[in-house]
Amino acid sequence: MSLEGYKKSVAFKDLIDNQSVAVEVENMALLLHRRGDRVYATGIYCPHAEVRLDPRNTSGDLIICKAHGYRSNIKTGECMEEPDVKLNTFPTVIEDGFVWIKF
Ligand code: FES
Repeated sequence: MSLEGYKKSVAFKDLIDNQSVAVEVENMALLLHRRGDRVYATGIYCPHAEVRLDPRNTSGDLIICKAHGYRSNIKTGECMEEPDVKLNTFPTVIEDGFVWIKF
């Protein structure tokens, strides 16, 4: 597959299954969430009021903001508390052992 437009981030082997981490790719702060053999990339700021999300504060596919408790789905960006707001999500590809992100 073509990686045009994708930016190289971390090695897939460095991600722990069912955990999320903060990364910086070309000066852009993002969260990566490994779930099995897939990796999901999201924005790092809560869609409610832009508070920085803590990657340790996840439950299954949800990331929970400590500010007011909003829960966002890491795969779809859907916010459980407010359907009109959405966590940013970005396409990812795993190629050559690395996670590539398009943003
Ligand atoms: S800023 Fe995250 S829930 Fe309000």
